[in-house]
Amino acid sequence: MYDDPKTTPYADPNFEPECNASGNRPFAAVMEARYGRRAMLQGGVAAMAFGFVGAARARAGDAPARLNFTAIPQSSADAVQVPSGYVQTPFARWGEPIIAPYPDYIDGGFNTGADQEKQIGMHHDGMHYFPLRPTEGGNQRGLLVMNHEYIDTLYIHPNGLTIAGGVRTVEDEVRKEIAAHGVSVVEIEKAGGQWSIVRGPYNRRITAGTEMEITGPVRGSDLVKTKFSPDGAKTRGTINNCAHGYTPWGTYLTCEENWAGYFFNRDAVRPREQTRYGVPSNFGRYGWGTIDANDAYARFNASTRGASALDDYRNEPNGFGWVVEIDPFDPNSTPKKRTALGRFAHEGAWVAPARNGRPITVYMGDDSRNEYVYKFVSRGVWRKGGDNRNLLEDGTLYVARFNDDGSGAWIALAFGRNGLTPANGFASQADILVNTRLAADFVGATPMDRPEWGAVEDETRWVYMTFTNNSARTAANGPNPRTPNPFGHIVRWRERNARYDATQFDWELFILAGNAADSKNFAAPGAPALDPTNEFSSPDGLWYDRGVLWIQTDGNAFGNDQMLACTTDNGDIRRFFTGPVNCEVTGVVATPDSRTLFVNIQHPGEGAVGSSNWPDRGAARPRSATVIVEKLDGGVIAR
Ligand code: FEO
Ligand code: CA
Ligand code: CA
Repeated sequence: MYDDPKTTPYADPNFEPECNASGNRPFAAVMEARYGRRAMLQGGVAAMAFGFVGAARARAGDAPARLNFTAIPQSSADAVQVPSGYVQTPFARWGEPIIAPYPDYIDGGFNTGADQEKQIGMHHDGMHYFPLRPTEGGNQRGLLVMNHEYIDTLYIHPNGLTIAGGVRTVEDEVRKEIAAHGVSVVEIEKAGGQWSIVRGPYNRRITAGTEMEITGPVRGSDLVKTKFSPDGAKTRGTINNCAHGYTPWGTYLTCEENWAGYFFNRDAVRPREQTRYGVPSNFGRYGWGTIDANDAYARFNASTRGASALDDYRNEPNGFGWVVEIDPFDPNSTPKKRTALGRFAHEGAWVAPARNGRPITVYMGDDSRNEYVYKFVSRGVWRKGGDNRNLLEDGTLYVARFNDDGSGAWIALAFGRNGLTPANGFASQADILVNTRLAADFVGATPMDRPEWGAVEDETRWVYMTFTNNSARTAANGPNPRTPNPFGHIVRWRERNARYDATQFDWELFILAGNAADSKNFAAPGAPALDPTNEFSSPDGLWYDRGVLWIQTDGNAFGNDQMLACTTDNGDIRRFFTGPVNCEVTGVVATPDSRTLFVNIQHPGEGAVGSSNWPDRGAARPRSATVIVEKLDGGVIAR
């Protein structure tokens, strides 16, 4: 699935990962042959779609996936629970050393900033597994690459954040907090039946301080020129990395979600590129910008302080809110902020499976109440075996309009089109991208109930997205039917003509989450309510793996956060995994053979000291960690 010839595993022409599910026959031709042109054009017809899933898999010689485990109950225990027949092992904990000199983790928050720079970050989130050693199918050795979304102020230092007179006074605390953010690249290996971290050359920490390149239409724009980068070509760090994505050329995409709160601007009037995203007027989330004496921290203060933008950090927030591309196979590579993909509260970036000679399509959501769904279509086309590394540099960003009749359209956010002109306040493509939300407002995008993760089921071309909840919805629309929406839901759509780069699509509700009294599983025959084996709320993480859609929750109203498995052709949903107390279950991926599942636990014990001591137990503080789940008989997970 990764084709970059410069990385050794993929130079092997015989490397055929097991996750390649696509046939060659055009989807449109299959649909037309099976259902006729009229049925195909109608789209969104559930019975037709479910029939097609079976047909597609049968052609590929692969029966539809069937769940083969007994659902577990909701949990309030401070433990990870998995079904009978499975074993779970905490792994890759916050603070575990991965880079020389491998400073040991010290309980109680006592590690220094310098230690944290060599250790796994805090608050695990989106994650991908890049296989190594193709002779074993990549199932025994790989790079686990994961986001660290934010920090837990209760646990990161011995006694919380030190603040005096509205200023952060202990600089090493801030150094540690910045190093606890970002991304970890961790080489892992299975030997003697056990996974362990390899102390090898791929291991890397990318943090909220790592130098990055600004690429695409915004590079060089006046809007990103700062004291650090007078030519607007670079910035430092990535923050609030929530979900992720991965490309067919073997890179990782990390996405900047709630970055705005890290800055502050004390000017009487803040510019639109800050107000529309919520940059606050004072202190910011952790007050990093209050340390005036150190430029690495003072840059989080976006107030006007110098004679021009080249003398201060008034433009620093414009370097954030992007999708960042990282090459995990080259530890010396500079991460690239891909501005062509727009600036918003990026949850993640889901790349649709590539087709030779076609553009790359990336699905994305802006996770705030009443924000939008986007997609990016590359200008260049993907070539199998070619140099695809800069496909995210240039292309068209679209925002979604969902019509109540089940149809939808992608509206281009391109300079000079759809009214995005100087007369309407948009000076250039760079201006549109820095102000993506305003451009999307202008063209009439559909406000959604907090778009979270996406997943693409290539066999059927369904694209799924979770909408976690929306306490602020007062007016229903087709894809967001509840006012307010406390439990969240999942919507799916299919592009017209079976082309991911199409500009029109058809959508339908997939699951309205909730309890038995308020939920609907449209994926199952008769659209029943959810029941005690599968009720959930606030869907967030989502991942599709060979017939199974994995659903993770952030704020489950009925127990600890959890993960469920769902077969998309018959709506069989079963609870597979529950997390410890006050955690979020977010981030899931498997080895290519689907026999080792990696699941992230974020912020166990959040908000209440003593509520969790997972996973170290005893008197230890709780730690975010990855959980490895395997079947006792070594089989494929959940099936
Ligand atoms: Fe960081 Fe939208 O969850
Ligand atoms: Ca999330
Ligand atoms: Ca969330």
